[in-house]
Amino acid sequence: MTLDPFFYQIFESLPRQGPGCPEATRNVWSCLPPLPNHANILDVGCGSGTQTRDLAALTSGTITAVDNHQPFLDRITAWATANHLGGRIRTRAASMDALPFEPGQFDLIWSEGAIFIMGFEEGLRAWKPFVKKGGYMVVSDAAWFEPNPPAELMRWWEKEGYIPKTEDALREQVKNTGLRLIATYRLPEAGWWENYYVPMLARVAELRKTHGTDPACAAVLDPLQEEIEMYRQYKRYYGYTFFVMQNE
Ligand SMILES: C[S@@+](CC[C@H](N)C(=O)[O-])C[C@H]1O[C@@H](n2cnc3c(N)ncnc32)[C@H](O)[C@@H]1O
Repeated sequence: MTLDPFFYQIFESLPRQGPGCPEATRNVWSCLPPLPNHANILDVGCGSGTQTRDLAALTSGTITAVDNHQPFLDRITAWATANHLGGRIRTRAASMDALPFEPGQFDLIWSEGAIFIMGFEEGLRAWKPFVKKGGYMVVSDAAWFEPNPPAELMRWWEKEGYIPKTEDALREQVKNTGLRLIATYRLPEAGWWENYYVPMLARVAELRKTHGTDPACAAVLDPLQEEIEMYRQYKRYYGYTFFVMQNE
């Protein structure tokens, strides 16, 4: 078994593919002024669409959910069809660094836990042209919550290849892009566990049972378990922060 299919086998079975929760999506949404009734919304790096579904309950507008993994998009389409929301939720397979849309097309771009793939400032710069003047962007990304993180935690992030920045450094990056920062919001701890790490741990345990000591399996499961352990030990040092911004 190659690594990639195995990785997707795990992530396709999870309720979501990154930290987040409906309470956070709702709370962050409440930081936005009212959007037009037929708001045009883009959800970037939507995964299997947990936040897409939460957004659909908060707006009467249309949501285009974008991801580069078609099976996630198929789950969204199946859910939207079953819930008679096919007219308001569309999917598009595309890469976030080459979005196939018109300039100024969206009232709001929303992205939970996915901008790290491009880098925070790079992602904001790349997506901003697709937002109407006066429209909004909301993204969540990893950030340090405390200074002087322990060496073990730093080494782990270095290995992951993405070192979080402080929230102040991220605010500065927002400023560099010309977006106006309206609010920030820290994802509550429950958003890491309930729909993400708890089901992930259950899946890891199941797969260890069925695959035993298969090295290809361990190569995927060990890092996931290590990630969860890092969060369990060091969660006071880092987390996810939402940034709510306007394209003035
Ligand atoms: C950490 S997950 C977050 C998913 C979802 N927003 C959530 O919070 O559950 C990141 C998502 O980005 C998608 N992705 C990775 N690289 C991408 C790219 N270049 N373009 C579009 N989506 C990408 C992955 O397939 C995955 O669904």
